[in-house]
Amino acid sequence: MAASGPIALFDSGEGGLTVLRQLAVNFPGEQFLYAADSAHFPYGEKTLDQVRAWFLRFLDFFERQHARAVVIACNTATAAALDEAQRLASVPVLGVVTPAAERAAAVTRNGRIAVLSTEATYRSGLYPAQLRTINPDLAIVAKPCPILVVMAENGQVAGKDVEDEVRQCVLPILDTGVDTVILGCTHFPHMRQVFNRVVASRARIVDPGEEIARRLSHVASPATKATPQVEAWTTGDPDRFSEIAHRLCPDLPISTRALRWKQGSLEMLRQSSLDTTPD
Ligand code: DGL
Repeated sequence: MAASGPIALFDSGEGGLTVLRQLAVNFPGEQFLYAADSAHFPYGEKTLDQVRAWFLRFLDFFERQHARAVVIACNTATAAALDEAQRLASVPVLGVVTPAAERAAAVTRNGRIAVLSTEATYRSGLYPAQLRTINPDLAIVAKPCPILVVMAENGQVAGKDVEDEVRQCVLPILDTGVDTVILGCTHFPHMRQVFNRVVASRARIVDPGEEIARRLSHVASPATKATPQVEAWTTGDPDRFSEIAHRLCPDLPISTRALRWKQGSLEMLRQSSLDTTPD
């Protein structure tokens, strides 16, 4: 892989944009490549073996695009594939789980931490394992919140229904006395304002995207342009992906193209290109 290529980010859909947004703020001169396996969304319902197999095909794709670092901007794919990806790749591969776990362990005062995630991340047990490696005395409450994942993917990130769902997911956990809540699915920070309203007076919120942005400085290039360049690829419908991406992140100039799964491999479709750069 060439060392001058873009920084690649991966998610099952729109969730990794919350990580991209943080990176774009910290590294405005950067070129980003964002890939979404929207055809297989939601990853949270799949097995870790399925997710690992899919993600490794994206790792090949990133290598072909000369990415110089890969951020797995998806907790589920991090849980499924980080170790193998780091073993296989010739460039740095970062996952979102360890930075978030380390941050949560550092900021908790009473040692009680909640992890909200997808079903698959919950099943993997990775967050509790990482947190206990950092500090065996931590008490951890983990909970899958799959409905919030689907809402965010559809661009529904505010309003009464979202707030009701966040309350239903989080209030029983807050009642257990946790003082720190990890948003352990990258779709959730799209609802950050709602989480702030429901959680912030009772617990600290840890967003993996913020932690990754802090750690990526060693691979980022100096700021040379005013705005980052983002090329996005989706295995779903590029028009729909773009429309929601633009709604969720209106400040990011994203152009989206189509990837297709064909006999277990990823194929780039050149013709379906749509520019969502804001006017
Ligand atoms: N955004 C992803 C995560 O952080 C996955 C959501 C899904 O596809 O279920 O886990």
